[in-house]
Amino acid sequence: MNEALNIADQTLVLHRHPRIKNETLQAWDSADEYLINYFSENELQKQLNENEQILLVNDSFGALTCYLQAFQRTVVSDSYLSINSIKLNMQRNRCPEENLLLQDSLQQFPENVKIVLIKIPKTLSYLEEMLQKLHAVITPETIVVAAGKVNMIHNSTLDLFEKYIGTTKTSLAKKKSRLIFSLPIIKEVPEKEIAITWEIEKLDWKIHNHANVFSRNHLDIGGRFLMDNLPKGDFSKVVDLGCGNGIIGMAASAAYPKAQITFIDESYMSIDSARINMQKNLPEEQAENARFVVNNGLVGFKPRSYDLILCNPPFHQQQTITDQIAWSMFNDAHFCLVDNGELVIVGNHHLNYQDKLERIFGNCEIVSQNKKFVILRAVKMD
Ligand SMILES: C[S@@+](CC[C@H](N)C(=O)[O-])C[C@H]1O[C@@H](n2cnc3c(N)ncnc32)[C@H](O)[C@@H]1O
Repeated sequence: MNEALNIADQTLVLHRHPRIKNETLQAWDSADEYLINYFSENELQKQLNENEQILLVNDSFGALTCYLQAFQRTVVSDSYLSINSIKLNMQRNRCPEENLLLQDSLQQFPENVKIVLIKIPKTLSYLEEMLQKLHAVITPETIVVAAGKVNMIHNSTLDLFEKYIGTTKTSLAKKKSRLIFSLPIIKEVPEKEIAITWEIEKLDWKIHNHANVFSRNHLDIGGRFLMDNLPKGDFSKVVDLGCGNGIIGMAASAAYPKAQITFIDESYMSIDSARINMQKNLPEEQAENARFVVNNGLVGFKPRSYDLILCNPPFHQQQTITDQIAWSMFNDAHFCLVDNGELVIVGNHHLNYQDKLERIFGNCEIVSQNKKFVILRAVKMD
């Protein structure tokens, strides 16, 4: 697998993080290459005046951040894994740190931005929130260029650029990617709340969902199945691993009111929504006893520290479908459970998580199943 990106007079060595054995995917794509070549061929750096900077939105593994190492830049991401990858690839390529600010997706954009480079994200609502924030800081001189795979750029994508930035056109496709150019027109855009809230029937809970939260428009049916099949017991330290908007951890808090629930997700917006949802919907004491952690699964957590871990595992990293994260989560769960502690997960039948759990825990039982999903329970034996 190619780890050296030779582009526009630079050679960068880039890895995907978290690292996996026999990695087959490279840490950049043709949209990164298109953006870098466009920047270099058009000498965009010449447009930067003193005290002006570059804003990079949604760089996946650091190709853009590292290539632009000579310039003052702010890098915005909703992903802890991406921010971590960017940091590690910066170190690997000996990029200076002083001219870089890494920022999560919940913060406002800096005011002195002259050039904005955006990688088109998976979710339209997340793109809308980023463009809304950009609208607040652009001037007629700001240069806005985005890039994405052809199959991720639709009329609805371009409409958002027209709405928040200005006149928008696209480039020809190269290696299945396209650029989007948007010329700022300073105009009023009606305020729009992008986070949405819906109710869960019967429970009377109002669920807040930021722009980039998994299944933000409705309760995920896999998550619902797990909420309805929580194990009986007197648990005291529980984890909602990959919590999204936090519904599984909230159900656990309702089922085991004395337990401390730890919500973990790699998305900053998810953790913020989970925190809001606990505060809005569960008794104050339970909400105050909860912990909210942006992290790569349970990496860095202490061994033998939880008696129940609940998980509706992710099957994507960025645009790639993978069971690698689920696999790491199950291994780390085994490490972090006390003896006789339980991991309870929900998954599509076809993902065949049962084999993985058998291999890691030496046991795995089916708790419940329907046509689509299965709930599995594995116990840590001493
Ligand atoms: C299938 S969703 C489940 C969300 C929620 N628990 C539910 O049931 O609706 C998986 C979640 O895992 C999160 N995730 C993905 N990779 C992760 C990682 N390495 N560490 C922590 N969370 C991760 C995603 O952001 C997403 O919120």
